[in-house]
Amino acid sequence: MFTIGLLASGKGSNIQAIIEYIKTEGLSIKPGVVLTDNPSSGALEIAKREGIEHHCIPEKKYKTILSQKTEKEYVRVLKEYKVDLVCLAGFMRVIKEELLGSFTGRTINIHPSLLPAFPGLEAWKQALNYGVKFTGCTTHFVEADIDSGPIILQAVVPVLKDDTPETLHKRIQEKEHIIYPLTIKLIAEGKLSISGRKVYITS
Ligand code: GAR
Repeated sequence: MFTIGLLASGKGSNIQAIIEYIKTEGLSIKPGVVLTDNPSSGALEIAKREGIEHHCIPEKKYKTILSQKTEKEYVRVLKEYKVDLVCLAGFMRVIKEELLGSFTGRTINIHPSLLPAFPGLEAWKQALNYGVKFTGCTTHFVEADIDSGPIILQAVVPVLKDDTPETLHKRIQEKEHIIYPLTIKLIAEGKLSISGRKVYITS
């Protein structure tokens, strides 16, 4: 069974969408463990409800990164659950060598913009303020630089005249809930190949 580890800091809607997709499609993918740095993350409730192993591993020292010690703990737990793929789903801390070195080419992320546009925080607000007509979301392999790494799938979302940050983010999330589960399925079924920065879907 292909086992995924899911890391989130926020409400966990992507985790919910991934779990639903695995169930409805009957995929041979096991959500092995849900990890969060935030004791009030919705991801913990979702994991409890779905009967998935879950742990909160907080980081007291830093706000946006993990100390080496804490990152080591994430790696230890991910290995304990024999995770094949690490899926960052709104995990709001920069991942560094400790984890990336242990899961090289096996860590993916979802970002709420059409990368390389608008990396970083609240990408939907950045898009709205910039005045772009289209934005969207991107799944990508994680590399050391923030929101970089080979792009796997993207979905486009038009920016509407009356959009607020909330309405735009909501429509982006509807697309996230489609492309993230699909990305995981493609990887689990061995249907992706990478050449440099380019990711190809093989049939
Ligand atoms: C998602 O929109 C995701 O793209 C974003 O956090 C949100 C988490 O939502 N991630 C980033 O901004 C990472 N740079 P969720 O908790 O409902 O899945």
